[in-house]
Amino acid sequence: MCGIVGYSGKRDAVGLLTSGLSKLEYRGYDSAGIAVCKADGTVEMVKSKGRLAILEEKLANKGLSGNAGIGHTRWATHGEPSDANSHPHRSGRVTLVHNGIIENYMQLKEELIAEGKVFLSDTDTEVVVALIDRFYEEDPIEAIYKTTAVIRGSYALGVMFDDIPNTIYAIRKDSPLVIGVGKDEVIIASDIPAFLSETRDYYLLDEGELAIVRDGTVSFCDATLAEHKKELLTASWDVEAAEKGGYPHFMLKEMHEQPKTLKDTVFPRIDEAGNILKNELKDTSYIKRIHIVGCGSAMHAGLLGKAFIEKYARVPVSVEIASEFRYANPVLGEGDVIVLISQSGETADSLAVIKLAKELNIPTVGIVNVVGSSIARAADTVIYTNAGPEIAVATTKAYTAQVSVLYLLGLRLAADRGTIGTADYNAIVEALKLLPEAAKKVLENEEHYKELAKEYFEARDMFFIGRGQDSALCCEGSLKLKEISYMHSEAYAAGELKHGTISLISEGVPVVAVATTEAMFEKTVSNIKEVTSRGADVIFVTQFDDVGGFYKDKIALPAIHEAIMPILAIIPLQLFAYYVSIERGCDVDKPRNLAKSVTVE
Ligand code: AGP
Repeated sequence: MCGIVGYSGKRDAVGLLTSGLSKLEYRGYDSAGIAVCKADGTVEMVKSKGRLAILEEKLANKGLSGNAGIGHTRWATHGEPSDANSHPHRSGRVTLVHNGIIENYMQLKEELIAEGKVFLSDTDTEVVVALIDRFYEEDPIEAIYKTTAVIRGSYALGVMFDDIPNTIYAIRKDSPLVIGVGKDEVIIASDIPAFLSETRDYYLLDEGELAIVRDGTVSFCDATLAEHKKELLTASWDVEAAEKGGYPHFMLKEMHEQPKTLKDTVFPRIDEAGNILKNELKDTSYIKRIHIVGCGSAMHAGLLGKAFIEKYARVPVSVEIASEFRYANPVLGEGDVIVLISQSGETADSLAVIKLAKELNIPTVGIVNVVGSSIARAADTVIYTNAGPEIAVATTKAYTAQVSVLYLLGLRLAADRGTIGTADYNAIVEALKLLPEAAKKVLENEEHYKELAKEYFEARDMFFIGRGQDSALCCEGSLKLKEISYMHSEAYAAGELKHGTISLISEGVPVVAVATTEAMFEKTVSNIKEVTSRGADVIFVTQFDDVGGFYKDKIALPAIHEAIMPILAIIPLQLFAYYVSIERGCDVDKPRNLAKSVTVE
């Protein structure tokens, strides 16, 4: 996700801003920029697509200096990486940097355009600075709060006004902002690493609270303009721990980000009337058959998409492994659509499929996490997952975001085809809105999953079984365990086990059994009894109550609409795999033999 830095004090802001931004590079970005209040009071902006080094080259020839400024590293969400889309953004007398996602920016942008506003970028951020500029007459604080009253979504803002020199205003909702306090200087940032080399003392900015940073001092107020004092905290982390937000591994940090990344991915795609993917998909009538293509976890997400889309939209879906599909001379024609799923957007096998689709004149939809990546640029239509940069090699938050996009796509197709009743549609839409809170509840039971990992980490093999959507989910649960703990594992359709593989079940063999649909619950319980009777130790994963006695351990899930339960059910399995990996002394974030993006065949 984006990184924000702001500086006010007696030293030169340019060097401190670029140094602070360099400490946030781990967050992933595609462009960078700064704005500085110069000695004459004017605010000058320098920004560029690409790495921080390119910005520093631009700055080296500028001779820019001043004692206050804001800086930004951009992880693109709206609008490809480009100089114009880079932050800061300006409108009139206002200059601003932003981290977050404004869910209603299109509607606000249309209103501003109708008022004659000309936009220079494709970003949601430029809408925010244009609103502050529209509301700004004499009171900057009033202009900021009038703006935050009309925007929906997540934001951390650093704002400067041409006619208020050496002053930075900072406010946040859902996106982080911390305020480092040094000797006669203040540094605002998205994360502590940005100022850890200058000071360990900092304030946490609360939601809706405004920080006013001026001449090396900071004061705080709220929407009532009442000033108040805050507790000054001291960071005990070292830089490396700080980059992981205090978590021991990026993977753990990213698993805990899932409530937010699910919200960032789903909420902007459901408008106030309950319409879905209006901005991304103008028309779906051309879609008669879907081929979901991906690799590894992306393909596993596709399996869940198939179950959902076929159930509700009654559109036939096939799920293909990209490395196979690209050479299979697939039978494709009128009405076929290829949906490419890829976190990195650079996977060679998946990119080859897009090229094949173009040769065959088959429309493509990309479900991609990296804006402007090769697959995103090549696909005819792109639906971005807003999971932010995923540093750990093993995907977690990007995978659940991919699944949530597939559920949105399924609902949209079902609505366009009239294959889903209003009650069902509204129930699933409401459930998707409850997903972030439900995911938080699942994460609260982390200690239980950790204890289970301690119980089973020495197993030689582990099996994952389920039926229907749960069978698809088990594929990802099994892969997570294999790729980070190096334990052999296999996912199996629960009803298929008895046709051979059950011969591998003997005393003490651990089996994870997942049952999240009412229709398959009893049948899965029967399959559990089949393996328990042969000595298996079963971990039962379900939201349903049961009489017990037919499994060894249980992972109880909070109940939301069963159609989207797999997104919740995977989280304990991610954490279980993580803690098994820890117990086995593996390199969780960088497992052996694996790469984050497989750009070779
Ligand atoms: C990493 O945890 C995944 N297991 C890996 O299989 C990944 O999903 C696959 O390599 C595809 O990567 P992509 O989503 O970037 O295309």
